[in-house]
Amino acid sequence: MDLYKPQYHFMPDKNWMNDPNGPIYYKGKYHLFYQYNPNDYHWGTMHWGHAISEDLIHWKHLPIALSPSNELGETHCFSGCTVINNDGLPTIFYTSIGENERDAKNGAQQWMAVSHDDMLTWEKCDSNPVLKLNIHGEMDIKEWRDPFVWKENEVWYMVLGGGYKEKGCVLIYNSFDLKNWKFLNKMYEDPDFKFLECPNMLKFGEKYVLVYSPSDIVRYHVGTLNEDFTFTSEYEGILDNSGWEGFYAPNTLIDRIGRKIMWGWMTEGSRGEFDGANGWSGAQSIPRVLTLDSHNSLKMEPLPEYEMLRYDEKSYENTVIFKNKMIFEKRGRALEIELEIKINGDEDFSLNVLESPNEEEKTTIRYDAVAGEIFVDRSNSSNSEKVHKTILRSSLKKENGQLLTIRVFVDYSIIEVFADSEICLSTRIYPILESSENVSLELNKGNKLNIEKLNLWRMKSIW
Ligand code: FRU
Repeated sequence: MDLYKPQYHFMPDKNWMNDPNGPIYYKGKYHLFYQYNPNDYHWGTMHWGHAISEDLIHWKHLPIALSPSNELGETHCFSGCTVINNDGLPTIFYTSIGENERDAKNGAQQWMAVSHDDMLTWEKCDSNPVLKLNIHGEMDIKEWRDPFVWKENEVWYMVLGGGYKEKGCVLIYNSFDLKNWKFLNKMYEDPDFKFLECPNMLKFGEKYVLVYSPSDIVRYHVGTLNEDFTFTSEYEGILDNSGWEGFYAPNTLIDRIGRKIMWGWMTEGSRGEFDGANGWSGAQSIPRVLTLDSHNSLKMEPLPEYEMLRYDEKSYENTVIFKNKMIFEKRGRALEIELEIKINGDEDFSLNVLESPNEEEKTTIRYDAVAGEIFVDRSNSSNSEKVHKTILRSSLKKENGQLLTIRVFVDYSIIEVFADSEICLSTRIYPILESSENVSLELNKGNKLNIEKLNLWRMKSIW
């Protein structure tokens, strides 16, 4: 039995997957593409894998959408997006990687592919490349990739990531027909990184949220797109405090009713090697619904449709813990837990998951009200010496009397924590004991723990 293969997170049957690509709603169905190596469980020869869903939960795998056209000198089909063009045809934009002068570092190109059969098969356009590096004139852009396209007032816009003079940047272009593109400006620069990957530009009312992946924790900025096509950041945040290994290169779907839904790639990096020991590697996070609140701060909630997977509920209300430890035995490896605590101000408590009966292994979600910090402590997650055991943390200050809501999703080797819709900690854990299936809740410090609500569910497989 594979102790690590997730059961309710999206992934291909086997082999390597990384970034989510071009998620789109079309003719009543959702399509998700992804960076895929069909030949191995390591990164290599990037294709676009493809799956379809009616409810955003259950997916059917479809044939590969894009393969590298070796006869045209193409070696990889890197990340990108999907839009419906002005003639109503599904259109993919992606970064085409060749050898030497148009390798990923020095000179990628942006290519287009169109589908005439509702996205089953894709034709690369004769007019490729649609964008070449010389669109920037004298500017020498490095690591140019990952188109993200959207339409506003009849104009198409594209952002691409890259690096200019050793500084990470996002570049912006526009077009009326998706074929002829004009470079508008270097929209944003992040001097802390040499290049930026996978930009997303999401519009919420008058504000934009710019998201990018800088080979580090994924950043977002809430701000304004100026008339000269530069972007002014008014608020900066991170999407997930897990490091790039836990949540990376996210991409966003606008669903049937306009919700903005984001997936991020969860790597196997914490396993100590990018190793799909059982022939697979990588999963997509639980899709998150993004909203901006009235203070322009980004809120993230797990897609509510996931509730349909819950079964075997255990539910408690208005319970208090003093020195006792609540233990729930043999809850399995696919579960959701929702915990609502009324804060006293002096409590420090732990919710343990994938815990073995004598606690040799356990993964601990801990909240320290005095320090105002939440942790995902992996130091005892696994008895294996090979796996990463760092502790993830995020500050989360609560006032006395306030409610703290924590939602935890456990799926074999995945753990995702949502706290108050503001903080996400998503990571991987690799417990080796088959008996690591308990859940427990305990107070480490403080007088008492006021549990307003505690719900535990097992989760069904989506396959
Ligand atoms: C991000 C990334 C993208 C690129 C793709 C290649 O993880 O490096 O920038 O398009 O992966 O697989």
